[in-house]
Amino acid sequence: YKRITTKSLIEMKSNGEKISMLTAYDYTMAKIVDTAGVDVILVGDSASNVMAGHETTLPITLDQMIYHASSVVRAVERGLVVVDLPFGSYQSDSKEALRSSIRIMKESGAHAVKLEGGKEIKESIKKILNAGIPVMGHLGLTPQSIYKFGTYTVRAKEEEEAEKLIEDAQMLEKVGCFAVVLEKIPAALAKKVADSISIPVIGIGAGGGVDGQVLVIHDMLGMNNEFSPRFLRRYLNLYEEMTKAISQYAADVKSSDFPNASEQY
Ligand code: KIV
Ligand code: NA
Repeated sequence: YKRITTKSLIEMKSNGEKISMLTAYDYTMAKIVDTAGVDVILVGDSASNVMAGHETTLPITLDQMIYHASSVVRAVERGLVVVDLPFGSYQSDSKEALRSSIRIMKESGAHAVKLEGGKEIKESIKKILNAGIPVMGHLGLTPQSIYKFGTYTVRAKEEEEAEKLIEDAQMLEKVGCFAVVLEKIPAALAKKVADSISIPVIGIGAGGGVDGQVLVIHDMLGMNNEFSPRFLRRYLNLYEEMTKAISQYAADVKSSDFPNASEQY
C-alpha cells in the first residue's frame, strides 16, 4: 500500500478526510498500530511517562528517544513516523535543535520531528526545515513546560493566551510546518485555528472541529486505571484483561496445570 507522506496529510485536510494518529514506542506495538491503518505514528516523549514511569516528560533523553524511534521505524510500512524532540535537546539554540533533529533522522530513520512551542522557537524550526526535515508543531498544553504552567488543566481559556496561540499556529504554517498538534484547549478555539490555516491541526482534548485526533496508545487501550481526563476514550480495558490473564498464568504454574502433556517435548 501507499506510504503516508507529509503531502498526503495536507491533501487529506483539503479533501476533508480526518487524520488518525496514535503513539507507539516499540516494534511490536508499532506493527499493530500501522497494520490497523493509523496514518501518523508518534514516538512521543510521553514514553517518559508510560515506558519509563517518570512523572513528567522532562527526564527522557535524546538517546532514549532515538532507541524508541528506531524500534518503531523497523515496524512501520505505511504510516508517517514523527518523533518528539525531548526537553533540553532544542531549547538552548537553533544549532542544537538542528543537531538533535539530524541525529533523530539519521539514527532512527524517522520521517519528521515534533517540537513544543511557538514564536520562542521560530528560529530553530526554520533551521530544521531548511535542512529538509519536516516539522510538526505542538501548541496549547505543552507538557515540557509543566513547571511553568503548574497544572495540567485546559490552556488558552483567556483571551491573551488564545490570541498568542492563533498567532503561533499561523506562524508555524507560514514557516513551513506540515501539521500542528493542539493539546487540551477549548474546542471552539481549536476549530478557529483549524479553519484559519491550511496545514492539518491534530487535536488531543481539543474537540471535533479539527483535522485529526491523537491519543497515547496505553491510555486508549485502558492499560492504566489512574489517568482519566475527559478527552480520553478507552477502547479496551487492557489493565483488567491483562491482569486476569497474567494471574491465571501464575495460578496455572503454581497448580502444575501449565504446562500440560501437549505443551512439552
Ligand atoms: O508525547 C506525546 O504523546 C504527545 C501527544 C500527546 C501529542 O506529544
Ligand atoms: Na510529546
